[in-house]
Amino acid sequence: MAKAIDLNGKSICITGASAGIGRATAIACARAGMPVLVAARREEKLRDLALEIQASGGRAEWIAVDVADPESCERMIERGIDAFGSLYSVFANAGFGVERAMHEMTDEELRQIFEVNFFGSMHSIRPALPQMLERREGHVLFCSSCVAKFALPYYGAYSATKSAQNHVSRAMRLELEPLGVHVSSVHPVGTKTEFFDVTKQQSDVARLVEHSGERFMQTPERVANAVVKCLRKPRPEVWTSRFVHWGMAISMATPRIADASVRWMVKRRLEQAESVEAKSTS
Ligand SMILES: NC(=O)c1ccc[n+]([C@@H]2O[C@H](COP(=O)([O-])OP(=O)(O)OC[C@H]3O[C@@H](n4cnc5c(N)ncnc54)[C@H](OP(=O)(O)O)[C@@H]3O)[C@@H](O)[C@H]2O)c1
Repeated sequence: MAKAIDLNGKSICITGASAGIGRATAIACARAGMPVLVAARREEKLRDLALEIQASGGRAEWIAVDVADPESCERMIERGIDAFGSLYSVFANAGFGVERAMHEMTDEELRQIFEVNFFGSMHSIRPALPQMLERREGHVLFCSSCVAKFALPYYGAYSATKSAQNHVSRAMRLELEPLGVHVSSVHPVGTKTEFFDVTKQQSDVARLVEHSGERFMQTPERVANAVVKCLRKPRPEVWTSRFVHWGMAISMATPRIADASVRWMVKRRLEQAESVEAKSTS
């Protein structure tokens, strides 16, 4: 069995670190001894996080970035290399969701979600690769989703961005692993973060997220710990629910059964939404 990688001193840049999974991963990586560059758009949240990590003995820097802008991502990677000498890893985690039927999405809305979720990942990872390839070591991770492997109705656009990340990470793994750089995709299930509030803001109506069951939600710390585990022992895909992972494998082979189960789940969710809305108006 391959020896676990000692993460102490190996630096990482994490996008979407002002909240949720990115924030929790920054804290977990810093605890593992990794110098961390935290990036997102909200500067105050990043500054507070960097100070929190420094106060508990870790190394952290922050930079404001919009991942949809390739030049700002280049500056982000330069900042990481200047601060830490090199970057061992990039976790392309920034992303958002929208709940809308595919035929109602405009091209502009489709481009916007791809700009952040898909192109934003490429903008964040690409400029870090030359120095990784030169040193023949590194690890890039895409924060995809369990919906990379199946589509929820009204989340077609979001699922498409997550599938694109998954496919690209598979190709990049085959291209880069022989050259010393690991590539992984991370596939969280429902996770308690700001994601659901942002999705509501992005959508005219968001009945599915509005009434998503808390019961099956995971914590961002659970995803963060799985990411650190993958950094120590690189693996192609990180899944935080074995049940969903195997469910996905079966649904790939049986799309009709997969569609029937998703239809049933969505119908139940919408019935719950209607009953809550009826109660609140009566
Ligand atoms: N929560 C879930 O159930 C779930 C499940 C599967 C996968 N995921 C994926 O996990 C990743 C993290 O999401 P989360 O759940 O942690 O949601 P979150 O709490 O809303 O965090 C999203 C992060 O992305 C940043 N971000 C959004 N747009 C950005 C942009 N244009 N440039 C730079 N940063 C940007 C946000 O920061 P600023 O607003 O400060 O820029 C924030 O830090 C996403 O890729 C999401 O698709 C989430």
